[in-house]
Amino acid sequence: MQINFTDTRPSDARLVAHIADKGKMPSGLELALDEGAEAARFKGTAGQLFESFVERGGKAVRVAIAGAGAPDAEARHANCEKAGAAISAKFMTSGATDLALDLTDSGLDAVHAAAVLLGLRLRAWRHDVYRTKMKAEEKITLAAVTVVGAPEGTEAAWADYAALAEGVEFTRELVAEPANTIYPGSFVERCKERFDGTGAKLRVLDEAEMEDLGMGALLGVGLGSEQPSYLLAIEWNGGGDEKPVAFVGKGVTFDTGGISLKPGPGMWDMKFDMGGAGAVAGAMLTLVKRKAKANIVAVMGLVENMPDGKAQRPGDIVTSMSGQTIEVLNTDAEGRLVLCDALHWTQVEYKPARIVNFATLTGAMLIALGNEHAGVFSNNDALADDLLAAGRETGDKLWRMPLAPAYDKLIDSPISDMKNIGPREAGSITAAQFLKRFIMNDTPWAHCDIAGTVWAEKPGLTWGKGATGYGVRLMDQLVRNTLEN
Ligand code: BES
Ligand code: MN
Ligand code: ZN
Repeated sequence: MQINFTDTRPSDARLVAHIADKGKMPSGLELALDEGAEAARFKGTAGQLFESFVERGGKAVRVAIAGAGAPDAEARHANCEKAGAAISAKFMTSGATDLALDLTDSGLDAVHAAAVLLGLRLRAWRHDVYRTKMKAEEKITLAAVTVVGAPEGTEAAWADYAALAEGVEFTRELVAEPANTIYPGSFVERCKERFDGTGAKLRVLDEAEMEDLGMGALLGVGLGSEQPSYLLAIEWNGGGDEKPVAFVGKGVTFDTGGISLKPGPGMWDMKFDMGGAGAVAGAMLTLVKRKAKANIVAVMGLVENMPDGKAQRPGDIVTSMSGQTIEVLNTDAEGRLVLCDALHWTQVEYKPARIVNFATLTGAMLIALGNEHAGVFSNNDALADDLLAAGRETGDKLWRMPLAPAYDKLIDSPISDMKNIGPREAGSITAAQFLKRFIMNDTPWAHCDIAGTVWAEKPGLTWGKGATGYGVRLMDQLVRNTLEN
């Protein structure tokens, strides 16, 4: 979507949108709009939309008024996004190609004007590449938004948010693509294309290199797949010489469960099992595009979990890069096997100041928190609090979950250092305890289990059905709050 800024409303605008605060209509509108909105019980609550046609210059012009709620609301930013999203949801397939967003006298400041645009752009994204038989009236038509009378500074604020939208959209694309187009090798290729010329440095480890490093846990997961596994690192040095913050992602491009095969119905969802890696790649794209003043490294463990004659078996014992041995009692608990080597390598290679990993790790997380919050597990209260705050600010909400030695005991194995599953109870926590065993010297670390938030069965605030892009905004905000101030 193209977004331009001008001072005067284009004279040929046939679709015009305004933003209204709660209980306050934009001034200077036609009587039909003022009275029409009142008759339609339009109050300007966040995300509410009123629409009518008026005659302007001898033409019928479609005018929409989107509510942004009370100006002093705590959720002001989210409310402004909702206003923008409401406009997209209504008009993205309306047949209109151009929209004039008239912010003259809207009372919005630059950040909140940009928030409207962010909501507008994010909500208008849809993955239609495989829909060849769509009817004309189903297709997205809205392609350009001309912003009129934006407060000073909106363009600069939008430049940052455009980078944010680009990152969220990249994550959504990676997550929405099926597993026959996104496999470890093609994931790496898409990142190479996207990061080309951005100033970020990409490093790719192939299976031979990982073998030399002793990554037996990660490599074991890929044994049953025809697709070679990779470890991808993206480095961005926009800060001084401090140690980087590391974001690590689970990138299981398809999770059949392996020999511990998942049931057929619903297995298709497991194309989104690379959602952690997708989020980390998208966040990195945002940070790089807006030239964040911080040092960040993103590390993604990319494998496909398939059953095959070469696949690992339940009961196999693998040796991770850390030297710790793991009894693989269930080949479907593969995410932790991928992450433990990715986490260890990240620490050896970068000595990060903080590590945050993202993973669609457990179905139990979905049972505990549904689609509203991702779970965060951390060995460090300050890091957990920073993440929780970033989540509240961006809408990528988190809920803190516990870690404790009593849970850790549940994954002790009689014949190796640990097993890769615990009992059915507390399944998300034992998975987190497993990862914690690979964090060295109490490095501040957090694990975000995003199993319930990467994919939506129904449209949300700024997303449609499907890939949400969860995590990109969270990471971007964490960097803003903790590294750039
Ligand atoms: N990728 C799944 C977790 C998952 C399930 C994410 C459903 C999103 C929706 C993970 O690899 C997995 O299979 N976990 C198992 C672990 C169990 C075998 C200990 C699970 O959650 O059932
Ligand atoms: Mn699995
Ligand atoms: Zn998985």
